[in-house]
Amino acid sequence: MSNSDTTRVQSQSLPPEKVMHKLVSLAKRRGFIFPSSEIYEGLSSCFDYGPLGSEMKRNIKELWWNSMTRRHSNIVGLDASIMMNPRVWEASGHVASFNDPMIDDRTTKRRYRADHLIENHIEKLRRDGKVEDALRVQSTYEAAAAAEDPNRALYELIIAEKIKAADTGSGDWTEVRQFNLMFQCNMGALADKSSIVYLRPETAQGIFVNFHNVRESARMKVPFGIAQIGKAFRNEIVKGNFIFRMVEFEQMEMQYFVKPGTQAEAFEAWRAERFEWYITALGISREKLHWYKHDKLAHYADLAYDIKFEFPFGIEEIEGIHSRTDFDLKQHQEYSGKNMEYIDQLTNERYLPYVVETSAGSDRLFLAVFADAYREDIVDGEERVMLKLAPKVAPIKAALLPLMKKGGMGEKATALRDELAENFLVQYDDAGSIGKRYRRQDEIGTPFCITVDHQSLEENTVTVRHRDTAQQERIEISRVREFLAAKLV
Ligand code: GAP
Repeated sequence: MSNSDTTRVQSQSLPPEKVMHKLVSLAKRRGFIFPSSEIYEGLSSCFDYGPLGSEMKRNIKELWWNSMTRRHSNIVGLDASIMMNPRVWEASGHVASFNDPMIDDRTTKRRYRADHLIENHIEKLRRDGKVEDALRVQSTYEAAAAAEDPNRALYELIIAEKIKAADTGSGDWTEVRQFNLMFQCNMGALADKSSIVYLRPETAQGIFVNFHNVRESARMKVPFGIAQIGKAFRNEIVKGNFIFRMVEFEQMEMQYFVKPGTQAEAFEAWRAERFEWYITALGISREKLHWYKHDKLAHYADLAYDIKFEFPFGIEEIEGIHSRTDFDLKQHQEYSGKNMEYIDQLTNERYLPYVVETSAGSDRLFLAVFADAYREDIVDGEERVMLKLAPKVAPIKAALLPLMKKGGMGEKATALRDELAENFLVQYDDAGSIGKRYRRQDEIGTPFCITVDHQSLEENTVTVRHRDTAQQERIEISRVREFLAAKLV
């Protein structure tokens, strides 16, 4: 690779608390993410993906989809409807138990999750070295879940510990109440109880109720998986942190049906595969990924781990891997009256399969990739913002930049753009100095800038500038397509 000797990249460190602000501003300015219905002052925790954001999100989803359905011959796809018969949510346990304990502050009129207030309090006691106090509160907290009136027990713990809201310092608490996270709407002309339908709070149930449809039509034999990407909706009490916690979001879920007794092995295999995927497919830094084992399990799980990512605002969940036992199929069998058993054709054994679920949120993954990629550095003495995105994830794969629009360079760059556009999302830009154009592309994570210069006209070559190092190499125009293809496998 040739390089102008003067090109030097110096990295700069950034305090994490400043990064979120910069990410939100870059996302808006360059068309990754906009606040929803912004001209009407927006809507809390709702966002729109702009031209670059929608491309990048598609890339993330495609990488996930391919890693499931292309890489595994025993995993097939599904696209189930968002609204389902409400009995589905009675059977799944969501109507009765998809609740969060909420508490209001009378003075500030703010609403909080009671469990989060207590968990943060325990964490603070630990940080302050008050280990015994932390253990005492932890055990009272655990006992509260099993108490006759868990809401009252949580409330009493908050009052006894004099827990205050971290953001306001106030603690003028109401009683704790359970709050169901499902969005309800009415289907049809009547607005009574009989017309209630829910917006799905997880995509998984669409998979469970289609277990036999998929198995029979695709001739699947246990063990097999069903993968799905789709919107889910939760009336979250605590919103915020940009696209981290939204009320409308997208999940990428896969349910893997196995013979009872083999779930532990499948669980470990999926745990290992999913963790590595973040590094190999999305290019996320390994050291920012963490495991978390759940002590407090969801109503359907007997074992659960989260993959967490070090966001600028803290280490938070991006994917859950759950051993869901036969809970869901059993519930649907009972509520629908339909037999959900699997019959092994070889052994004639009948059983309800156990399920290992991998459940990731594409919006959270987007934010993790975005935050991990954000850099501020100095190139040749000039400050720049750069998104160090994996080429497969980057929205624009290459920019075509004529050194000057005149003299045939503009035409040659346009012709190359048209040729490459058949296979890749590329962008032509002839506005401003070449340095400014490089910076514009660095800021949106374009991995390669292809410059058409005087030499290009004589020799049919172009320079390819690599975003991360700012180094350049000269290659033949006839090789550009193959060059890009090799970077995107
Ligand atoms: N089917 C299992 C399930 O839904 P979950 O842990 O509640 O499990 C799985 O959700 C993933 O969905 C999370 O790891 C997260 O990435 C994403 N997710 C959940 N709630 C979200 C929200 N309010 N906003 C954005 N993503 C969310």
